[in-house]
Amino acid sequence: MIGIERISFYTPAYAIDMRALAKARGVDPAKYCVGIGQDTMAVAPIDEDVVSMAANAAQQCLEGLDKTTVDTVIFATETGVDQSKAAGVYVHSLLGLPGSCQVYEMKQACCGGSLALHAALDRVARRPEKQVLVIAADVARYGLGTAGEPTQGAGAVAFVVSAQPRIIEIFPQTGYFTQDVMDFWRPNYMEEALVDGKFSVRMYLRALESCWHAYAADGGLPIQDLDRFCYHQPFTTMAYKAHRRLFTVADVEVPDVDVLAPSLRYNRLIGNTYGASLFISLCSLLEQTPVDMAGEHVGLFGYGSGCVGTFYAGRVIRNYRAHLKREEHECLLANRCLLSISEYEAAFRRRLPIDGSMQVLEESCGGPFHLEGIENHKRIYGRRRREAGANLGVA
Ligand code: HMG
Repeated sequence: MIGIERISFYTPAYAIDMRALAKARGVDPAKYCVGIGQDTMAVAPIDEDVVSMAANAAQQCLEGLDKTTVDTVIFATETGVDQSKAAGVYVHSLLGLPGSCQVYEMKQACCGGSLALHAALDRVARRPEKQVLVIAADVARYGLGTAGEPTQGAGAVAFVVSAQPRIIEIFPQTGYFTQDVMDFWRPNYMEEALVDGKFSVRMYLRALESCWHAYAADGGLPIQDLDRFCYHQPFTTMAYKAHRRLFTVADVEVPDVDVLAPSLRYNRLIGNTYGASLFISLCSLLEQTPVDMAGEHVGLFGYGSGCVGTFYAGRVIRNYRAHLKREEHECLLANRCLLSISEYEAAFRRRLPIDGSMQVLEESCGGPFHLEGIENHKRIYGRRRREAGANLGVA
């Protein structure tokens, strides 16, 4: 039995209210809150990037674990900070992981987190005594005033994959789908993603359909045996579209989509976190479902534009609730500072120097780690003097 032993996520201490954004853009707030399905959207301050967010998520995830048992760190991101150096190497250093650990980066848009999970499962299958730390972190950026703007967000998730899963066992049967399409992409020279929005929604659903057939062909569970579902959530109403499509494709009457509500709660507050989104949804499902889900089967769908999809499933482990970080996650979300739209726009426009000059960043609020500054084109990370909840100022 191999699966997830512990899991935790992190999102910056700043957010905007979607109603305020709608008002500023001259849009009916119901479009963002009902049509797209977002209440608030995380905003990363200048001193938070995928490395600091990942270190904050991973530190909480590893609490109480003997770090010398971590053999591999796989970091999935499409918002990497360097073309050569894996972002996980910085995290390895910030967390004081052993030098004998291997670290690498994985990329395929939002599917990176699921692909990293599968690589970790394979590693543990070969070496059952090892523990693999999987991290997925991203900042979703589309540009001010664009159609994609209400589907931004920022966050990181970290989980340990081992042969002693205390939260969810992941079954080996998997359905994949790959097709070379340009539905969403970000050239190396651009800070914001380019997207063909409506086409990306259609590709997501087409990938889900193909993944379901591939999953069934791989000996996966019949749909009637799946009790819960978690979908990649670029925005939460996408999960409803996916759920309806999945049951239609499986030729089974579409059940009440309200069953998805617990898996959407955190994502409604954070927004898209690309590679982390599916696993933040999994945290939400496990932590916000009022009944004990032990023994239940969960179907998971990861989609990464470009595109690669994957459908797989797992079984929730007995006593899983004792190993969740529900209180920490609720506290993180409850203590965020809501920015005005002009503060958000100012934070969005800020850039680090790209000429090698030195800049020491003022410290925002957030988890223990942040980006202290940049010098000679080198990013310098360290510990914050103050942490989330303390005197939240402007990003
Ligand atoms: P849009 O054109 O601004 O919005 O773009 P719309 O007109 O399609 O409206 C959105 C929904 O709101 C519609 O619902 C409207 O009816 C509804 P639907 O018909 O789809 O069910 N609506 C209202 N509801 C209530 N009251 C109202 C109202 N007005 C409208 N007054 C779009 C939306 C998602 C395309 C845009 O935000 C976008 O391009 N986002 C970025 C791309 C994206 O998220 N794609 C998702 C699939 S691809 C993916 O998941 C991968 C990704 O995560 C990246 C990666 O892999 O790395 C993106």
